[in-house]
Amino acid sequence: MGFANKTVVITGAGNGIGRGVALLFAEKGANVVIADIDEHAGVETADIIKKQGGTALFVRTDVRSASDIVALMKATQQTYGSIDILINNAGKVLFKSPYEVTVEEWDDVIQTNLRSTFLCAREAATYMRNNADGGSIVNIASSRAIMSEPNSESYAATKGGIVAITHALAASFSQDRISVNAISPGWIETGDYTKLTKADHEQHLSKRVGKPADIARACLFLTAKENDFVTGVNLIVDGGMTRKMIYEE
Ligand SMILES: NC(=O)c1ccc[n+]([C@@H]2O[C@H](COP(=O)([O-])OP(=O)(O)OC[C@H]3O[C@@H](n4cnc5c(N)ncnc54)[C@H](O)[C@@H]3O)[C@@H](O)[C@H]2O)c1
Repeated sequence: MGFANKTVVITGAGNGIGRGVALLFAEKGANVVIADIDEHAGVETADIIKKQGGTALFVRTDVRSASDIVALMKATQQTYGSIDILINNAGKVLFKSPYEVTVEEWDDVIQTNLRSTFLCAREAATYMRNNADGGSIVNIASSRAIMSEPNSESYAATKGGIVAITHALAASFSQDRISVNAISPGWIETGDYTKLTKADHEQHLSKRVGKPADIARACLFLTAKENDFVTGVNLIVDGGMTRKMIYEE
């Protein structure tokens, strides 16, 4: 899988999973554009990549802003000459009783997670469709698109929506040779992995909690040109948790 001379835009790449995805694409030779609202963290990700000999650009972006998204893709095109891959990863979680969620909070989660995915995909695709070999988009959903704990309505709605627009966009962008897929992560530990307990790990069919690199490797697979027969799918990367049948005793 070759990513040299490819340009990848990753939203929310300042922290957590997005940073892990950015570091792996950089290691594979891609130009990496880090789009995040958190300037400190975004610059830090870019600095790590540059210290390791990679190529990176930070563009401060609030993915709730349509004009920020337009400026992000324009800056990427102007700096590297193309946009080949987009990873829609920026997101926020809200756990709050459905009786108490305000309209403003609901709208904020929808705009951050779901509307941004559509706007970024559409804007990036307007550039990708001019590439000789098209492009590839990965939307980060969640296993919460298909399973729930209480008090997660707005987040679940965005992740279910992301899975749905993934196959819709795969159909619309196929004429422009752009593949569109989703990844649904389960528990991916972005904090101190050493603090996890034996029970945390053992409850997974895989016998371990996930790491950002697990999602990064899935992104490489879905965006590699030789895998362009894969489009419209939702790849669940969750250590088997959504396949584990549980009856309480
Ligand atoms: N960590 C998990 O267990 C897990 C599981 C399933 C899905 N996910 C999804 O993976 C993605 C990344 O999650 P994470 O755990 O790394 O989260 P995180 O909070 O560590 O990182 C999210 C990043 O998105 C950025 N961001 C938030 N709002 C933004 C905005 N308006 N504009 C631009 N950037 C913004 C943050 O600054 C941060 O850098 C999210 O979409 C999340 O829903 C995570």
